Amino acid sequence: MRHLFRLTDWTPDDVHRLLDRAEALAAGGATADLSGTFAANLFFEPSTRTRFSFEVAEKRLGMHVLNVTPEASSVKKGETLYDTLKTLEAIGVSVAVVRHPEEGYYEGLGEGLGLSVINAGDGCGHHPTQTLIDLYTIRREFGTLKDVTVAIIGDLRHSRVARSNAEMLVKMGACVVLSGPPEWRDPDFPGEYVAIDEAVRCADVVNLLRIQLERHNGGEDELVADYHRAYGLTAARAHLMKPGAIIMHPAPVNRGVEIADVLVEAPNARIFAQMQAGPFVRMAVLEWAFKRERVAKSWACC
Ligand code: CP
Repeated sequence: MRHLFRLTDWTPDDVHRLLDRAEALAAGGATADLSGTFAANLFFEPSTRTRFSFEVAEKRLGMHVLNVTPEASSVKKGETLYDTLKTLEAIGVSVAVVRHPEEGYYEGLGEGLGLSVINAGDGCGHHPTQTLIDLYTIRREFGTLKDVTVAIIGDLRHSRVARSNAEMLVKMGACVVLSGPPEWRDPDFPGEYVAIDEAVRCADVVNLLRIQLERHNGGEDELVADYHRAYGLTAARAHLMKPGAIIMHPAPVNRGVEIADVLVEAPNARIFAQMQAGPFVRMAVLEWAFKRERVAKSWACC
């Protein structure tokens, strides 16, 4: 079984192969037969899209699904994440999908585990399956990732989606520009910081981010109150977008904050298309976790 903690080690070919497989599944291609296997979903932070699209993906692959509620598990009695996962492995679980507030919770976790751990988001760290969804959405739109200009805008420092996306977009040959409040910049991100209007004007993809209020220490009330005018995609600012440019957001969306309410479902918005891609991308990830030997027949197409 293979772990997916972050995409850093993936090559562009690895990514394209996964996206090809997700496209084949979205087009109605036969799935690998994972019937009789067990998946466990452990979400230590709230989630709607990731949790339920993983559950849909697991069920479409014929897996039995266990939804572990951390508050009702022996984690509350002090059991470590490693021992919880080891326990799930011992009772027959093959894949654990884990969201956790601690950045890098998976460091050192994988070695002793026979089950596959798929990172569904770690603190401000990484969100690899959201990034695969975003790459899928961009590739479907433009037929390529190469030389597509993606403006990642907003709360960069606290966003695991932004970190994963920026790293992988650069690796895939896209051009990344960054914008948002100076207070929320992160010097480790690849890409040039530009003013918000310039970011919106130059982008093929305007990739907005949610303000991660739950990861802030407070004291930013004024910045948040003025955010829509200063850094949001307002209706007026959207007029600066190039013809053919699209709007993306990993969601949940704060309507009227990162993006004007009227733009969320605009013809050039792909926010719900990103969500539609979720189960197919996650099915491909689950198949990948089982290694090629078990699913070789299904992956032969790509
Ligand atoms: N995009 C995303 O991770 O959404 P959820 O927090 O609802 O899973």
